[in-house]
Amino acid sequence: MADLIRIGIITSSDRASEGVYDDRSGPAIKEYFSERLQNSLEWKYKVIPDEYEMLTKTMIDMCDEGCSLICTTGGTGPAKRDITPEATEYVCEKMLPGFGEVMRKESLQYVPTAILSRQTAGIRDNTLIINLPGKPKAIAECLDAVIDAIPYCIDLVG
Ligand code: MTE
Repeated sequence: MADLIRIGIITSSDRASEGVYDDRSGPAIKEYFSERLQNSLEWKYKVIPDEYEMLTKTMIDMCDEGCSLICTTGGTGPAKRDITPEATEYVCEKMLPGFGEVMRKESLQYVPTAILSRQTAGIRDNTLIINLPGKPKAIAECLDAVIDAIPYCIDLVG
């Protein structure tokens, strides 16, 4: 992997974007990769409402800004306003369904409700996009299941 990696973090949450509560999942993603990747890391970070157009635009902008990896958090469930997987499929040229399958399977060790997440992953240009659920504790639970594949995948598409 390159010496310098740019990582985009998108928190999709109506309430966090309105300031009803502080986003803790976005910072948990930053902490997770800071502790595990040896590369120099640069960050892009946005907290936005669960709006399809805003989400697709933010993902596309971060890809254009040279992010090798984008992690979204939130909006993967079955509720009416949960649209992160659909927005991800719209912007990606190739889907990597294995990421969602493995993260869901491993998450079932922690919570039976893991089945409710429709989280997925895909590639747009040189960027790997991975969906994570909205709960702060879900970040490490999910990323631990796929971390070994992430640098390798970034190398393959870079
Ligand atoms: N996966 C892990 N590892 N840990 C969790 O706490 N929460 C589940 C699921 N996956 C959870 C998890 C719950 S309760 C829901 S509703 C779905 O993720 C979707 O969450 P989201 O809509 O915030 O993305």
